Amino acid sequence: MSQDQAEVGNLQELLARVGAGLDQFLAFEHPDALARQNVWKAALDRPVPQQGVGIDEVTRELLEQIIPNGSAVTKPGFTSYITTGATTASTLASTAASIASPQRYMHTAFNFIEELSLDWLAQMCGLGNMKGIYSSGGSVANLVGLGGARQYAFEKAGHDPARDGVNRAVSVYASSECHHTIQRAGGVLGIGRRAIKPIACDDQGRMRPDALRVAIEQDLQDDILPMAIVANLGSTNRGAIDPLRAIGELAREHGIWLHVDGAYGLPGILDERLRDLYDGLELVDSIIVDPHKWLGASVGVAATFVHDRELLQRAFTQGPSDYLEGSIDDIDATTAPLEHSLDDFSIRYFDYGVELSAPPRGIVVWALIREIGVEGMRERIVRHNDMARELAAFCKQHPRLELLLEPTLSVCCFRYVAPQIDDLDRLNQKIRRRLVRENEYLPSTTRINGQLALRPCFLGARTDHSQVDGLAQAVIRIGDALVVEQA
Ligand SMILES: Cc1ncc(COP(=O)(O)O)c(C=O)c1O
Repeated sequence: MSQDQAEVGNLQELLARVGAGLDQFLAFEHPDALARQNVWKAALDRPVPQQGVGIDEVTRELLEQIIPNGSAVTKPGFTSYITTGATTASTLASTAASIASPQRYMHTAFNFIEELSLDWLAQMCGLGNMKGIYSSGGSVANLVGLGGARQYAFEKAGHDPARDGVNRAVSVYASSECHHTIQRAGGVLGIGRRAIKPIACDDQGRMRPDALRVAIEQDLQDDILPMAIVANLGSTNRGAIDPLRAIGELAREHGIWLHVDGAYGLPGILDERLRDLYDGLELVDSIIVDPHKWLGASVGVAATFVHDRELLQRAFTQGPSDYLEGSIDDIDATTAPLEHSLDDFSIRYFDYGVELSAPPRGIVVWALIREIGVEGMRERIVRHNDMARELAAFCKQHPRLELLLEPTLSVCCFRYVAPQIDDLDRLNQKIRRRLVRENEYLPSTTRINGQLALRPCFLGARTDHSQVDGLAQAVIRIGDALVVEQA
């Protein structure tokens, strides 16, 4: 079948078929993909097809071999890491954009929504008038924020690091609990991973401002340029929130850029009970949030906010190119009003970050917020935070569960305990493995003050209170069985 025939449009029927397959997937009645890998690998592992099979066959393979063998990330019981599946609104929006406005430039309704949704996000998350740019995830969003920090710190010293490279040693002070993408950003930005200086945390996993001050003052003595401070609003391991105001005031005192990683935890500000923990946001220079974490977006949607996007332009501009600027910038908008969506790129997001081609991601955020509103988001976030607290309360009153850390956000760190077992780390590791094999409750693990913890992070839009009791009972049942087996 030729490519042209494959292109003939019957989207309505095909999307209906795929939609039915996805609805069925969401019933989670299928076994885990790994269990059936012999079957689907045999069906899918083919040499590159010289002749196409046509869209009906592609749809059939999607429905029969691929969708049912997808990922556990979307399951209500999936509480590993900090990731989740897309909600329906997100799926509809990104599907629509892939056809009707594939790129985030030019004057289309989708691209209008790009900016609108960034402003909505900023308002919803207490960021005032900060201006945003979307990117593919927290890794890139952190990179973009720290790219702004690099530009700011070197420009103050009369040097353009984007044009000329860095010309001196710098430090970035980040909590020892910071996400490891911060170190990678150091490598990519040419300052080196070793420039990321880990700052000690308290026993709740929050960066200690006193330790931060000592590190900065030492560097100033050693003639190392303090480039940025990175604070967590919701660390990955524990959901810890760093003392933002104290850190921000220290940043102001020394004129250091304050970057905040709120990839997971920034939307926690919607929970009124936690609002005080976010005090100091006005001191922030750059901050990220990942709608594809707590807000239910399809993976591939993060946002970086700054006060001055022109700084990002200096940090990330691609420079001129004949095939782009040569043809477009000649238009004199004052004498030649725009008459076609192609007349102008509109907001030049491609100069504020590291991607040229990129989908309009704001349409996803727009759909999510439009569907349930800020109040709906707040309800979901409160529900997840409540779930972590319910589990914590249950652990405190159950003799064979131990709470290892009071939850701040929606992460709860706990473990199974039995007096006759010496190596509780190993036992809890085994519990986690069995949980994963049973394929219903899927937490990850972490270390809390040296001890191995089961670490559910309640995040998915499809997860609800029943998961709390289900997980706790499964841990007790498996733990009890393992203790008997080891006796
Ligand atoms: C706090 C934090 N920052 C950054 C990231 C990286 O985000 P992404 O996986 O979207 O690149 C994560 C991922 O879990 C995270 O939890």
